[in-house]
Amino acid sequence: MREKLEALLEAAVSEIQKATSEDALQELRVKYLGKKGELTTIMKSIGALSPDDRPAMGQVVNSVRDRLEEQLQLNLGIVRESQKAARLREERIDITLPGRRRPMGSKHPVTLIIEEISEIFAGLGFQVAEGPEIELDYYNFEALNFPKDHPARDMQDTFFVDEKRLLRTHTSPVQIRTMLKHAPPVRIIAPGTVYRCDSDATHSPMFHQIEGLMVDKGITFGDLKGILTIFINQLFGSGTGVRLRPSFFPFTEPSAEVDIACVICKGKGCRVCKNSGWLEILGAGMVDPEVFRHVKYDSEAVSGFAFGMGIERIAMLKFGISDMRLLFENDIRFLSQF
Ligand code: DAH
Repeated sequence: MREKLEALLEAAVSEIQKATSEDALQELRVKYLGKKGELTTIMKSIGALSPDDRPAMGQVVNSVRDRLEEQLQLNLGIVRESQKAARLREERIDITLPGRRRPMGSKHPVTLIIEEISEIFAGLGFQVAEGPEIELDYYNFEALNFPKDHPARDMQDTFFVDEKRLLRTHTSPVQIRTMLKHAPPVRIIAPGTVYRCDSDATHSPMFHQIEGLMVDKGITFGDLKGILTIFINQLFGSGTGVRLRPSFFPFTEPSAEVDIACVICKGKGCRVCKNSGWLEILGAGMVDPEVFRHVKYDSEAVSGFAFGMGIERIAMLKFGISDMRLLFENDIRFLSQF
């Protein structure tokens, strides 16, 4: 039996050493060490030996098994190494080449302005509110006191989805949604995307606005002017001239158009301000009692102001961009400058 084992060990080791693949080694493992393998079969026959011979033979079988196991592991390592070497020769990977860098992105100028303005108003105690871009006619117009035949509802300005729904033409409906959800006081800004059927060098069918709303006991037009002056001085630099002109919006009374001294010519007159020295940057006013009626606020108890501004125009002024379309053409050469 001992001789049989020695012969088996010798044959097995030589076969294992000749194997050139993982599969071949696996087959040899089965051949010798598997359930019906040659060594296993011999092991089973130990039971037939006399009790005196069994322990010694058992030891020999175990050492042969350990030897085979060792040899299998050793050759498995060798086979894997040479396969890897072959693969590397074939693929010709130059591991000394530097890796490919992903180009670093940057924030869009519109995003930069929204963040800057939001931060200024956060410092004044305003929270950020949001509303849907597909809006109900009711919130976009009706509750904001637009009469049924108001020209802004005309197909020319508004993208309608169906009879009751449209792409919001301004962020003002967020005023309504906020007041319906929260009792006064409220102090919010609402940045977001808005849509109008309009397109040229200074108009895009998709653009951005920031709405503002402050309602509390005893809010006056003086508060409106104070907040907007602080805001403008932080955004455009302290000492920037501010001018309010009477205007009209259905949802504010009185209403004003707010101008800043031209940031290009500092008020002297240039092409950008059309020689007026002033740039219109936002609309504002005291919330109309008719709007409060729609959201069930008591206009005898509270008052408030609202304002709204276009982000693209502010981005163009701050960054010196002459054509609004540049903001939406996704040209990396343009965008990477910010
Ligand atoms: N929603 C107006 C627009 O898109 C802008 C505006 C004007 C908003 C006056 C206001 C406001 O909140 O008080 O033209």
